[in-house]
Parts: sequence; C-alpha cells; structure tokens
Amino acid sequence: MAKLNIKIEGISYQAEEGMTILEAAKANGYEIPSLCTFNHGECNVGSCRVCLVEATGARGLVASCVYPISEGMEIKINSPKALEARRESVELLLSNHNQNCQQCEKNGRCELLHVAKLTGARDNAFAGSHTPVHIDRLAPGIVRDTSKCVLCGRCIARCQNAHGLGILGFENRGFSTFVSPAEDRSFQNSPCIQCGQCVSVCPTGALMENSEIGKIDEAFRAGKHIVAQAAPAVRAALGEEFGYPIGTPVTGKMIAAMRRLGFERVYDVNFGADLTIMEEGTELLDRITNGGVLPMITSCSPGWINYAEMNYGDLLPHLSSCKSPHQMQGAVIKSYWAQQNGLDPKDVFVVSVMPCTAKKYEKDREVMEYNGVRDVDAVITTRELARMIKRAGIMFNRLPDEDWDSDIMGDYTGAGVIFGVTGGVMEAALRTVYYKLTGKERDGIVFTEVRGHDAGIREASLDINGTKVNVAIASGMKSAKVLLDDIRAGKSKYHFIEIMGCPGGCINGGGQPYVRECFLENEDDDIMDTYKEKRAKALYTEDERQTLRQSHKNPQIIKLYDEFLGEPNSHKAHELLHTTYEAREGFK
Ligand code: SF4
Ligand code: SF4
Ligand code: SF4
Ligand code: FES
Repeated sequence: MAKLNIKIEGISYQAEEGMTILEAAKANGYEIPSLCTFNHGECNVGSCRVCLVEATGARGLVASCVYPISEGMEIKINSPKALEARRESVELLLSNHNQNCQQCEKNGRCELLHVAKLTGARDNAFAGSHTPVHIDRLAPGIVRDTSKCVLCGRCIARCQNAHGLGILGFENRGFSTFVSPAEDRSFQNSPCIQCGQCVSVCPTGALMENSEIGKIDEAFRAGKHIVAQAAPAVRAALGEEFGYPIGTPVTGKMIAAMRRLGFERVYDVNFGADLTIMEEGTELLDRITNGGVLPMITSCSPGWINYAEMNYGDLLPHLSSCKSPHQMQGAVIKSYWAQQNGLDPKDVFVVSVMPCTAKKYEKDREVMEYNGVRDVDAVITTRELARMIKRAGIMFNRLPDEDWDSDIMGDYTGAGVIFGVTGGVMEAALRTVYYKLTGKERDGIVFTEVRGHDAGIREASLDINGTKVNVAIASGMKSAKVLLDDIRAGKSKYHFIEIMGCPGGCINGGGQPYVRECFLENEDDDIMDTYKEKRAKALYTEDERQTLRQSHKNPQIIKLYDEFLGEPNSHKAHELLHTTYEAREGFK
C-alpha cells in the first residue's frame, strides 16, 4: 500500500493510502473522539459528527471517520474551530438524550459519556424538544430504549454482518427517526434470534440485556435454596470487568465471588457440557449406525435454535434433541441434586451465569421443564454477574482462588471447558465418539482440525476405525445459512455440524463484557482483532491443564448414569435432558 505524506498540527507524518483521517491520526498517535464509527469500519455512517476536524482540500470541517487522507493533506484536530464543533456535536446528541446515567446499566462503559468528557460538552447547551420514545421490554433477552439511542447504526450493521438478518433498521425520517425491528415490533414479535450481538456494539444504554438480577433478589427474599452455575466462556471474560487483561482466566476468583453473593452451591456448567457430550455423542453414533437423519446438528446455542425454528422448520429433524448444557444441568439439580439433599424441587432456584442473552429466552421455553418444575429460573449475563459483584462491594481482585462445590456435580473434563469456543462442542464430541468407535484414545486427544476463531465455515474429514466422519463448523447465521441451504438442496456431505449463534462462539456472546478500544488503554493496538482469540486461548489452556479431557471419563457423570439416569439416551435421560423444536413464523 502506498504511503502518503500528511501533516497533523503542522507535524509531518506518513500514512497508508486509503486510510480515513481518523485511522491515519490513530496510526500516528492521536485519538480523535468518535462515536458512530466502529471497528475497522464495520459501521461507518458518519452521522454523529463527533469526529469533526479541519483538513486542507476539504470545504470546512469534515467527519474524520469517513473522510480519506490525500497527499499533502494538513489536518487540524486541535484548532478552536474543530474543538468547538466536536463539543457542539456531542451537546446536540445530549440535548435529545435521556440522561438518567445513575440508573443506566451502561454507566461506566458508556461511549457517549466518554466523548462528552473528551470534548468538554456542557449540560443543557441545546435544551429543546425530544424525539418520541419507543421502549421494548417484551423480549426475555434484550431491551430497547430509544431515549438513549444516538442513531449510530452500529446495531443495524452488526445484525447484518453476523447473521444477514437485517432485523434492525431506521424507522421514520428526520427528527422522528428511531431504530427498531420493522414496524416498531418488539424483538419478541420479530425474526430476531435474541443473540445480543447488537447489544455488544451499542455505544449507549439504548440496547441492553433484559436484566434478571431482580428475580434473584426476590428468590433470596423468599428463602429459596439458590444454586448457581456458570458457563465456560464466563471465566474467560469476567476479569475484563475488573481490569484484568483480555484472555485472563479468573475461574477461582469468580467462584469465590459467587459464593460471597450468597449462592448455596456454585457449580460449573462444564459438568452439564460433559453430560451433553454423553447424550449427543450417543445420539450421533446411533444416527450414523442406524440410518438416522444426517447430518446431525448441535443444539446448545439458543440463538441458533431460534434461527432454525424461524427459518429452517423443514430441517428441525437434523437438530440433536439434546437440551443445552445449563438446561440439562438445571434439570439434574431440580431432580437428582434436590433428591440427594432432601429438598422439594419447588424450593430450589437455579441461576445460570451465561455469556449469552438468548439463554434468557431459552430458559423460558415451555418445554424446558420436568413435572411442572422449570429447569432454570434465572439467567444472568457475564456483565450482570459483574454488576452483582460490584453492587455487593466485593473486591474481586483481592479474592482468593476457590474451587467449585464438589458434591454430585463437581467433576468436569477439559472437553466441557472448550464448549465456549467455536469448534469446541465438535471437538468435545469427537473425543468421545473416537473412543466409542475405536475403544482407545486418539493420540494427543485433541482434534486441532476443527479449531479456529473466525466466523467462517471450517470442515474436516476423519477416518475413525474405518468409519468416515465428515464434519463442519459455523458460527453466526450468515455462515450457518450456507451449510443449511446445502442440506436443503440435498448436497450436504457432512455427518455432524456444529452451529453457534454468535460469531466465534460463546466467548463472543452477546452477554460478554464490552470490548472497546477507548476503554482499553493497556491492551495491544490490535485488540479488536485478537480479543476472541485471547478469550479462546484461556479456555484451551484450561483444557490442557485438566487431567481428564474426555467427557466419558468424568467419574461423577459415570455415577450419575449408574445411580439415576441409567444409560445415555435412556427413557429417563430423554425425559430430563432432551427437548423438542417447533417450526414457527418470525413472530408468535
Ligand atoms: S447511555 Fe450513557 S449517557 Fe445515556 S443514560 Fe446511559 S450512561 Fe448516561
Ligand atoms: S439480538 Fe441478534 S438477531 Fe436480534 S437484532 Fe440483535 S443482532 Fe439481530
Ligand atoms: S440502538 Fe445503540 S447501536 Fe443502535 S443506533 Fe442506537 S445507539 Fe447505535
Ligand atoms: S464518528 Fe465520525 S461521524 Fe460519527
């Protein structure tokens, strides 16, 4: 790429041709405040005017996030005109903004407040009328409050880029413009899969998870026996909320914090993941050897299940009938665990800590219960857990490392840990399927062929003791659609497909801590490209440290089958651990 000569505040620099002023300035050590642009131009609508600068060759002020550099350009970021223009742009945004920051969940991670501080925006500089407000609290997963929207368009771009779904768009025109699913529908009544990817990129509190912290408070007040369980991906990201570098596993401190929040037991969903592999692996082998519907597709990602039910109702027989790991484990807590502890299941309250907003929707599905007792009662995201820890005054960084409760569901294997990353469910299943087909372990145990970090499609072909197993992996519905259309056309060559709703898998779930360069001064410059890889590495490292790395070797799983469930895929296992799906329109 050719280098261009530019000047910023009279100092000469070089920058790559094709860069915007914002990018060229950043490459040379300047942070120009910006709001509507996001991560390598994933969204560059140039609407907010927060990034205005003066530049020669341009008429007046230009939006640096979209304006390209040219040879000899002289840029003024710090001129009185540019400073005033940026400050006024933020003041205009604030004039039409519901500034109840003290109650806003985004406070502390709000990019609007960040640019207000950077530009010195004044209170009530342009007081005037406000756009009509649209609030949607109907969906279990996510909440929309347009009184906090800055019309940056990031959510629209993310939904399209990740899923090709285009759920969100600008409605109305001019001053009445607002962001919404078509016809101002609720997320709940639209084809939205409630994955929360739009929440992940929203710079303000306009899109948030539907918090269930209040439900947990109520359960404590009611004296319930509250059992908490945390998904693998949570430990790989929770530390970011407390200043740890991205990719720092904080398993021990997370357990200690959850215990100090008052949960009676703290369990790892990895046990549920091992259980899922026992059920799913058995189901796959049965389908392969007995002529069942192939390819079989994983079913642990509720965003994906929503997508399948709303878009590929004809392919639902391809989905594994297994519930997701936390739903399986919830069902075991409400049955076997309650029985062992002499408790009425109705007095037990299960809280799942998840990287995912769609899990909130999943746990409310009618089929997620046994004998009228819900499997899981509340789902909170990684971010909500951090909020609970901060609210309780727990100094996370000073906590000792503690271990999971070890009764009944304390053992877990490395196979369960890697469920949190794209390709992880596939690899975990293959470790057990390999053993079942050959009667021995694979050399080195791991299946690196199915690993990766991006959202594209990966595939592998394995010869296991003469049985050929073709597999494919996709995350994000845009990639999944390619595999699904092939199945529909009768062209699929695969036996087993892993699909996860969020690009990169659960480590990049819509409930994970927000990753923003502006709040991550101590991270590498390329952090927006590498954070998924770093979080994934935290899980692969935990897998490597385990002495047991295959689900079928988990002693407490073996005991659970011996004492309670019988065999994998038994009648009892089906009652508790399996589910059904229903084709539906994009709204119900
Ligand atoms: S989005 Fe930001 S500015 Fe708006 S209320 Fe929330 S914290 Fe305050
Ligand atoms: S939750 Fe997911 S599917 Fe729904 S609007 Fe947001 S990004 Fe799109
Ligand atoms: S909802 Fe959030 S991401 Fe979407 S346009 Fe509004 S401020 Fe931007
Ligand atoms: S950040 Fe450049 S116009 Fe919004």
